[in-house]
Amino acid sequence: MTHDRHSYAEPLLVRTTHLELDLALDFTAKVLSGAATHTLHWAGAGDRLVLDTRDLTVLAVEGEAADGWEPLEYSLAVPDKELGSALTIRTNRNERVRVSYRTAPTATGLQWLEPSMTAGGVMPFMFSQSQAIHARSWVPVQDTPGVRFSYSAHVTAPPELMVLMSADNGTTSRRTGSYDVVMPEPIPSYLLAIAAGDLVFEPLGERSGVWAEPAMARRAATEFADTEEMMRVTEELFGPYRWGRYDLLVLPPSFPYGGMENPRMTFATPTVVIGDKSLVSVIAHELAHSWSGNLVTQDSWDDIWLNEGFTAYVENRIVEAVYGAEFAVMETAIKQHATVVKLDPLSKAELAVELPGLNHRSEYHGTTALGPLKGTWFLAWLEERFSRAIFDPFLRGYFDRFAFRSINSDDFVGHLREHLLEPHPGIVKDDEVSAWLDEPGIPAFAERAVSARFQVVDEARSRWLGTGELPEGAAGWTTQEWLRFLDAAPDMLSPVQLQQLDRAFALTGTANGEIARRWYQIVAASSYEPAYAELAAFLTEVGRMKLVLPVYRALAGSDRAFASEVFAKARPGYHPITTAAVQKILGQ
Ligand code: BES
Ligand code: ZN
Repeated sequence: MTHDRHSYAEPLLVRTTHLELDLALDFTAKVLSGAATHTLHWAGAGDRLVLDTRDLTVLAVEGEAADGWEPLEYSLAVPDKELGSALTIRTNRNERVRVSYRTAPTATGLQWLEPSMTAGGVMPFMFSQSQAIHARSWVPVQDTPGVRFSYSAHVTAPPELMVLMSADNGTTSRRTGSYDVVMPEPIPSYLLAIAAGDLVFEPLGERSGVWAEPAMARRAATEFADTEEMMRVTEELFGPYRWGRYDLLVLPPSFPYGGMENPRMTFATPTVVIGDKSLVSVIAHELAHSWSGNLVTQDSWDDIWLNEGFTAYVENRIVEAVYGAEFAVMETAIKQHATVVKLDPLSKAELAVELPGLNHRSEYHGTTALGPLKGTWFLAWLEERFSRAIFDPFLRGYFDRFAFRSINSDDFVGHLREHLLEPHPGIVKDDEVSAWLDEPGIPAFAERAVSARFQVVDEARSRWLGTGELPEGAAGWTTQEWLRFLDAAPDMLSPVQLQQLDRAFALTGTANGEIARRWYQIVAASSYEPAYAELAAFLTEVGRMKLVLPVYRALAGSDRAFASEVFAKARPGYHPITTAAVQKILGQ
């Protein structure tokens, strides 16, 4: 196990093997309080247990002794801005250690929503987002993906609210105010998750269903109707789903991500529930994490491509199997375009820092999407060269071999050599593999996905930019064709051009968040004021970072005062991490 510089834990000395949570949710104080009891495996010498915390108030620490619980000495370090405070406990090498604590109302891993910020408007809501290093803000824990533990939880809440966790929640929405769940498989801390609100259940298939607020539940079930089919095709390709049930939880629009792969209970943004299934690859993605990420896990955030790169690859295979190759190629082309646009302006030196070889751990792998995108591209390249007949069983073997383990890039590369490159010599050259693993950037020989439908879109865009003739057939374009049209359009357009497009295709006010984010980015960069009211409404309604941050970035360059004004209004509804990200963009 390598050292994880994002955690104070010392897992070579001692590791949590099981966690028992006993928690109470207090919506008035916006506080979660109770106890976390760690079952420990003492591997090395010494008696010190170091846990990660952030903004936690520690009330007591005890160790289990022969005749009951004994108090233990502990100290909480001065907080580091990024990492929080190490909680150092002097133990008697106890098998169990219990920390009693409460969270801060400002815990970075939790959002507490007033009833007015929910669809129903009557009951409050709360949810966690632990990835990457926010579990420590609501549980004192060895907050590194290199440590895995099972957990059980007893949670109390106001009796009118349903509580769900990344565990065996079952399917009955009977509300009791007291809930007991178990996650029997060993998981890393970033997959600890909890949510509470006015939540009801809609079944999707035998092993799957969707939880949502009553106003959203039926629409969500229709949007996500293919979930069971996605599970079936993934199992056929890459082996059994090993987590029992797979349920989805649709959160309020302030959820800062598209989705989060909490085991057994994917958390999802409502911005993909738009009535035409065109954005459900988010679900394919989170489901794919049940293999890449949750089953085989990167052991530090610097190797995040092992989670996110593999997952985006599996996602695309699921999308292809369920929605067809034409659709899957469009999605790949959209992601590759985004990568290339980000890479193009970089100098060689910058590239070496931002996107080093996959086997050269980089903090940037953890903070930008580039490492994962390169990883996905690498896997697609291997698939192409070796053929699916060889590559698919190889990948399945990888999931089988490392199931329920945390590994690093070297472990993968070792497996790659042993089970793909050496048994099938002469198919790829050593220096080609090395270009992916050791060299910066995307190798020149990597082929780009070609979508025939995108070629038509590209021609239509060029014609429109040249002659003003509106794109023919655009009224019937799929979401992905619109994304392509906007992605490769100039950053700024003239008021005449924007007005012409908007009159013809009603882009301002669109309910499709992916189209909206691209459209408002151009609107913002072009200071196109007729669309500002709807742009502001979008930034106020939605808190998903991928959708709002690019618009703020564009506004920061064109109309900073307006950006600050919108942010001031939207901020009370934002998740703490969205707020922090917007503040950074606006230099506040
Ligand atoms: N696990 C990620 C979300 C994440 C990444 C949280 C990094 C914290 C740090 C999740 O699986 C994800 O990638 N979500 C994407 C959707 C996906 C379709 C690319 C998102 O949120 O947009
Ligand atoms: Zn992901």
